[in-house]
Amino acid sequence: ARRGFRRFLLWTWRLTYFSAILGAGWVSYGIWEMRNPADQPEPDPSKKTLVILGTGWGSVSLLKKLDTENYNVVVVSPRNYFLFTPLLPSCTTGTIEHRSIMEPIRNFLRHKKAAVKYYEAEATKIDYEKKVVYINDDSEIKGDVSATEVPFDMLVVGVGAENATFGIPGVREHSLFLKEVGDAQRIRNRIMDCCETATFKDQHPDEVKRLLHMVVVGGGPTGVEFAGELQDFFNSDLKKWIPDIKANFHVTLVEALPNVLPMFSKTLIEYTEKTFQEETISIRTKTMVKNVTDRYIEAESTGPDGKKQIEKIPYGLLVWATGNALRPVVKDLLGQIPAQKDSRRGLAVNEYLVVKGTENVWAVGDCAVANYAPTAQVAAQEGAWLARMFNSMAKTHEFEQELAKLSDAQEKAPGKEARDQVFGEIKEVQKRLRRVKQMSPFEYTHNGSLAYIGSEKAVADVSWLTGNIATGGTATYFFWRSAYLSMCFSTRNRILVMMDWGKAKVFGRDVSRV
Ligand code: FAD
Ligand code: NAI
Repeated sequence: ARRGFRRFLLWTWRLTYFSAILGAGWVSYGIWEMRNPADQPEPDPSKKTLVILGTGWGSVSLLKKLDTENYNVVVVSPRNYFLFTPLLPSCTTGTIEHRSIMEPIRNFLRHKKAAVKYYEAEATKIDYEKKVVYINDDSEIKGDVSATEVPFDMLVVGVGAENATFGIPGVREHSLFLKEVGDAQRIRNRIMDCCETATFKDQHPDEVKRLLHMVVVGGGPTGVEFAGELQDFFNSDLKKWIPDIKANFHVTLVEALPNVLPMFSKTLIEYTEKTFQEETISIRTKTMVKNVTDRYIEAESTGPDGKKQIEKIPYGLLVWATGNALRPVVKDLLGQIPAQKDSRRGLAVNEYLVVKGTENVWAVGDCAVANYAPTAQVAAQEGAWLARMFNSMAKTHEFEQELAKLSDAQEKAPGKEARDQVFGEIKEVQKRLRRVKQMSPFEYTHNGSLAYIGSEKAVADVSWLTGNIATGGTATYFFWRSAYLSMCFSTRNRILVMMDWGKAKVFGRDVSRV
């Protein structure tokens, strides 16, 4: 029995050793393959040219699933990386470094089956009748050619949206937005600038109060998540390293509606408001900002007597997060299509994501209006669905060509037996053709909403089986973290984000201003 046991141990050890070697080999091969992508076939100009605008959630999900061998694919975007926006609020305080949530589009495209052309440029105009997109290199370095046109057979518009300001005076000049990496960097620097300026020698107490008043306008998820992150930054780091600001640092969230986070259930709205109170973040609901100057905002609210009043609220940092507005290129396209004359929020699309009034233009994400909220979840599902449809369109084309060839062969076939054989092949291709043509319209599946609200708490409205679970707290925060970590674009991103979280926990966030 002892010998048997020894043998068992020996085999267990051998097996473990062998598996470890195999695992290490597999990981090393994965890394090697990632670093040394195989040569790609060049784009085939005889195939249909598919132009994709944007490198955000919609366009990149489309590119991920698209079989690029089927089309001559061209991508145009001023941003040569994909940005994982759900973790962008964490970059404003240095909890996460911005490069950890960026994925270079070049690396990603280099791993596609067939090569894809990428132009770092902004689409300035789409002429859908001429089937041409006009593009402009908006970067600092420009060559002799910085504006040109790209013809297309098929076009996907995934340019997202820009920040809504509702034409309120002073917003563009004096506030900071939170949509892009540059915005997060500007906010991070401005927070530190306000803190350092507030502690400048002989600064007047009123001015110190103003400089340390951090105002966030818009109580949607962007505003709430940013306010939570900022208060965390103060609680865990700022007040320790700059104790002088302790008494005056204050975060205020201003919202025009009666409550924040309108898309969440009532219990979670109340939970968020209670948590903010505990964190000493002021929430000013039913307060509509009407004007912005370089030192204060003017907001209209209803006084205790029911009368409207205008109040001046001084600020040091002002972050504007009041939702989405149309990009100029989308606005221009809307103007060209008579069927879009009533569209105000974006390109109205049908259930196949085709821009109404066109035949060869599709839209995904925030620039498309399909009765869903402008979220990453929606954009990603739309992009993935469109890829499946384009793949099946290519297959349809392939089968139709095969059928044409086979019926030709059937006519020329000598004798009944040969004709019957070709007939059998035709039946088979027809069956396959019917299968690929059975593509049902796009349908969005809502997996739930998640938001971080600060002090290691999050709220979640999650669909579960047939019901909905509304939950908030620290456990939800760990769920939020693991959900977003799993959704990160790549393993590289996941590792970097985890390292950033660990770094912030051990060393604290970096309070230097660059
Ligand atoms: P984007 O992802 O914005 O991409 C647009 C792309 O188009 C960009 O690459 C841009 O450079 C490019 N582009 C712009 N103009 C042009 C042009 N003229 N020509 C060519 N290209 C152009 N949603 C969630 O579901 N969950 C979340 O947790 C969440 N968190 C968020 C946090 C923040 C701070 C923000 C700002 C948004 C968040 N969202 C979240 C919303 C989500 O980011 C958007 O709904 C999503 O990015 C929309 O995807 P999109 O592809 O339409 O646009
Ligand atoms: P939003 O549209 O969700 O919220 C903007 C808020 O600003 C509204 O509540 C509005 O009443 C308020 N507002 C507008 N004008 C105002 C004014 N003048 N004064 C005061 N308040 C004013 O915008 P947000 O938060 O930027 O989100 C944009 C989209 O991105 C949404 O669809 C959102 O769901 C999605 N998103 C989702 C996140 C998540 O799921 N965690 C995180 C961030 C964004």
